[in-house]
Amino acid sequence: MHPKATSLTARTKAMPQIAASLMCANLLNLQRDIEELDRAGIDIFHIDVMDGHFVPNLALSLEIVRQIKLITRTPVDVHLMVDNPERYCSSVCDLKLEYASFHLEAAKAPLRLIRDMKAGGTKVGIALNPCTGLESLPWVIEEIDFILLMAVEPGFAGQVFVRGILPKIATLKKLMSRYGVDLPIEVDGNINPETARRCLENGATILVAGTSSIFKPGKDLYSALREFQGEISRH
Ligand code: DX5
Ligand code: ZN
Repeated sequence: MHPKATSLTARTKAMPQIAASLMCANLLNLQRDIEELDRAGIDIFHIDVMDGHFVPNLALSLEIVRQIKLITRTPVDVHLMVDNPERYCSSVCDLKLEYASFHLEAAKAPLRLIRDMKAGGTKVGIALNPCTGLESLPWVIEEIDFILLMAVEPGFAGQVFVRGILPKIATLKKLMSRYGVDLPIEVDGNINPETARRCLENGATILVAGTSSIFKPGKDLYSALREFQGEISRH
């Protein structure tokens, strides 16, 4: 495995990691954008896979994920925004993904799914919508590798940050220490320099970067990522 692939857990206490949300890339020039982000030192590629049911949108597919993995060695983090995530388990395992998350709201037997996905070597995370509480986490916290907190309703770029996520991150940190685990916390949705800083202060370790930070019209991705890396390193 590429050295970057093992770094997510190891680096949680040091530098926050940036996961570029590829649904926000120029989809007609996806390879160009991926190569530019790789040159600028991106940590992770975050890929939203939707089904048009769990969320009313379609973004990238697992076939595109397969092709992306042929052109980069940067770890790929697939965020399944789908109903019946169980149906995607064998594809996740076949693709040898570094990271995959599914929504607790959508899974019928989350523990079984976590174990089945992990059996394929993927690090598995649980994703929670902004209005989903942390009550169910004790049942899965010792089985998972990371947690993804949505800071907007899932499905669309360009939404407004839900401020209540900040105390939710802090509460999650406390919950984890009660269970003796220290898992990476990924936050997804409207991450800009200001919301990023607030998330990091509360304990987030991975920031999903979309239209609010690095994918901006008229700005090249290389400089945008470098600038954002600088801004969050001073948090
Ligand atoms: C929301 C997506 C995010 C989003 C991030 O459903 O998972 O990845 O695209 O981008 P912005 O910064 O536009 O919220
Ligand atoms: Zn996402």
